[in-house]
Amino acid sequence: MTDVLVLNGPNLGRLGRRQPEIYGTTTYDELAALCVQWGVELGLEVDVRQTNWEGALIDWLNAAADSVTPVVLNAAAWTHYSYALYDACAQLTAPLVEVHLSAPSKRPEEFRHTSVVAPHAALTIEGEGIDGYRQALAFLASSDSAAESR
Ligand code: DQA
Repeated sequence: MTDVLVLNGPNLGRLGRRQPEIYGTTTYDELAALCVQWGVELGLEVDVRQTNWEGALIDWLNAAADSVTPVVLNAAAWTHYSYALYDACAQLTAPLVEVHLSAPSKRPEEFRHTSVVAPHAALTIEGEGIDGYRQALAFLASSDSAAESR
């Protein structure tokens, strides 16, 4: 059974090729493999997914709500304006950790300063690059709820 879902939103499948000066040179496939490996080290079975389709992400969050599965979420640009995402996150009862590779709150574009995920997140990690995902998994591994969902 999956202990933690790591869900990634639009354009994150292009990691490594997309604005590497902001998002780094690690590819999405490398990030996904690292998340699985970090999970093994932390005793978690991790399922990593990415989509460019908002409805797919909402479906995954609805399923996570039903299965009470903790979620690490980098919703990318949807973070900043999707009220469907706000509502989907609101129903989660297992811990939700918001992750961003860059630090949207410190970037020059005003629209990045709003997060619809943050109000529902137990923790927000930004500006730590791919290590932010490791930190999020470590947080969930150490939280009671992640352990209880196993
Ligand atoms: C991002 C930050 C968002 O503002 C942006 O739209 C992304 C990636 C990050 O990981 O830094 O696509 O979520």
